[in-house]
Amino acid sequence: MPAQTSLAYRIEGGYPVVGEIRCLGAKNFVIKAMVAALLGDTATTLTNVPPIGDVDITAEMLTSIGVTVKRADNDVLHIDPSTMNTPNVPVPHSGSNRAPILLLSTLLHHFDTVSVPVVGGCQIGARGVDFHLEAIRRFGGIVDETEKGYTAHRVRPLRGTHIDLPYPSVGATETCLFLSVLAEGRTVISNAAIEPEVFELITMLRSMGAVIFTSPGRELRIDGVKRLVGTHMQVLGDRIEAASWASLACASNGDVTVHGIRPDTLGNFLSYFQKVGGGVELKGVESMRFFRRDTLRPAVIETDVYPGFSTDWQQPFAILLTQAEGISIIHETVYEKRFGYLKALDKLGAKTQVTTHCLGEVPCRYRDKNYEHSAIILGPTPFTATASITIPDLRAGLAYVIAAAIARGTTTIEGIHYLERGYGNIVPRLAAMNLKIERIVAKQ
Ligand code: EPU
Repeated sequence: MPAQTSLAYRIEGGYPVVGEIRCLGAKNFVIKAMVAALLGDTATTLTNVPPIGDVDITAEMLTSIGVTVKRADNDVLHIDPSTMNTPNVPVPHSGSNRAPILLLSTLLHHFDTVSVPVVGGCQIGARGVDFHLEAIRRFGGIVDETEKGYTAHRVRPLRGTHIDLPYPSVGATETCLFLSVLAEGRTVISNAAIEPEVFELITMLRSMGAVIFTSPGRELRIDGVKRLVGTHMQVLGDRIEAASWASLACASNGDVTVHGIRPDTLGNFLSYFQKVGGGVELKGVESMRFFRRDTLRPAVIETDVYPGFSTDWQQPFAILLTQAEGISIIHETVYEKRFGYLKALDKLGAKTQVTTHCLGEVPCRYRDKNYEHSAIILGPTPFTATASITIPDLRAGLAYVIAAAIARGTTTIEGIHYLERGYGNIVPRLAAMNLKIERIVAKQ
């Protein structure tokens, strides 16, 4: 049988990563902005759109229902929903990303019956969509789950309601926003997610004509309007990328200036980063320098919804903690299975242990449920390259890049399609900062 080939990164590590890098537009906003564009009667233009797989997947999904999607420039996307001609997102998009469930509520404003395929995204937990489906029902929709996906139906326009989310889910909050902005009357969303990307979506929807009131707590009030129009929106810089570059700079004992990032969106990351010995310097409106200030110290981290330590910062930060002197603990409270990536690090020299216990104080939905959702990291452990490691999910992918960058010798990282769904132009951007990295064809 002929050998199968796949793409991989080959990294020769052990050198400080030094230089400047621009954050691309945030993956976890741009996808939602592309869906939000369908709520307008006229075309929307998005700028600072990142060249990542998730944008391509979502663009294909929109095109498959007749929406006109044009890349005008490298990072500019025009989305014209006026050509939309079918309420059924075809099943070939099954399992590709989280967009289908957001499209279900959005399309329900345009059609009486809509269908979308099952959602995908990283396998880091059950990632149910029950809050989304329940929200559609509360607005007056009828929802069915099939083997292939979801259908939603309405007999009259959607009506505003009160939704009290069981957990401040980012996606479910976005679904509620999509449902409410064009629903009849007032909607109140309690226990809403308040991540920066959710607030950016609120800004975008307001610029399209939506009437949304925020309050100091987790409550959003929306007065439905009859129509929304297209807008022009710049995608904010990716705070998960920024935290990844900060972790890379500090773990490799390098010095990296990150451009295109709003420092406020990094919130508590900056505090944890400095607590473990990282150095931070503001270099202008949207530029920050990251470096190692001291010998690295261990930390106790509990991931949480915003403004807590983001679950998406956990993996790159874990690599930093392997280089800290002492015992670090990470309690993952957002996803039940997000430590699958740790084992492969042992091949490079890491000393880690996962446990089903809640090693922290944040009330956790996974207590006594037998999920390995806490990790103990013993450091410092200098890394030595290993022949190859295979990426299990997107954020783990960047963590492996950092791990290979600090490991002496040459490591091949396979499964890079996971990583490239969310990170664009990795090789030229990191090579420009002195990282010896190349994209190769690997035999399997
Ligand atoms: N949840 C449910 N039922 C639902 C919805 C969510 O039980 O109907 C649970 C999930 O299983 C999870 C928790 O609630 O345990 C939080 O999920 P959330 O809905 O907030 O996540 P999401 O909207 O699916 C987005 C990001 C994730 C990020 C989370 C949390 C996108 C495309 N994805 O996912 O990003 O981790 O919010 O901030 O916006 C990543 O970028 O690598 C990534 C996984």
